Amino acid sequence: MALWRIRPFTMDDYPAVYALWQEAGPGVRLRPSDAAPEVAKKLERDPDRFLVAEVEGRVVGVIMGAWDGRRGWLHHLAVEAAYRGQGIGAALVREVEERLRAKGCLKVNLLVRAENTAARRLYERLGYEEMPGIIAMGKELAGAQE
Ligand SMILES: CC(C)(COP(=O)(O)OP(=O)(O)OC[C@H]1O[C@@H](n2cnc3c(N)ncnc32)[C@H](O)[C@@H]1OP(=O)(O)O)[C@@H](O)C(=O)NCCC(=O)NCCS
Repeated sequence: MALWRIRPFTMDDYPAVYALWQEAGPGVRLRPSDAAPEVAKKLERDPDRFLVAEVEGRVVGVIMGAWDGRRGWLHHLAVEAAYRGQGIGAALVREVEERLRAKGCLKVNLLVRAENTAARRLYERLGYEEMPGIIAMGKELAGAQE
């Protein structure tokens, strides 16, 4: 078991985090919103809810937590393959939850692909429940290149 610790993301972590997302497989779909300038905007908005896990100074896990004033959101959770199964993913989620609770957040939501068994089990173990009858919808804003 590696010794890991969780700390806030900084833009210096961006190359390592982007590589982690790229290697994460279909569970993390990279979008134009993941380009460095967009991630910098995200960091400005949620500086203490965007976290990485590191082992000996190397980033091995990441989660983007968000607070929209009503709900908390979890995005782009990923742990490097060699470090999975050690509780890092669950610890990242719990840490974001703590930080959201401290903000006054009452409920956390996330989107997960139906076939992503590992992630679904992780969230279920942490108390997340499927929301029956809900479908995910989205709209790309005019001028944006999503
Ligand atoms: C999903 C992911 C983040 C889990 O990270 P992790 O550090 O391995 O997870 P943890 O070790 O904290 O596991 C916590 C719980 O999740 C469940 N779990 C994790 N990996 C699992 C797997 N491959 N199969 C089944 N259950 C799994 C287990 O219930 C586990 O608890 P337990 O070990 O006490 O049984 C990791 O597999 C990953 O990076 N996947 C690719 C990216 C991705 O799909 N992200 C999700 C976006 S929604």
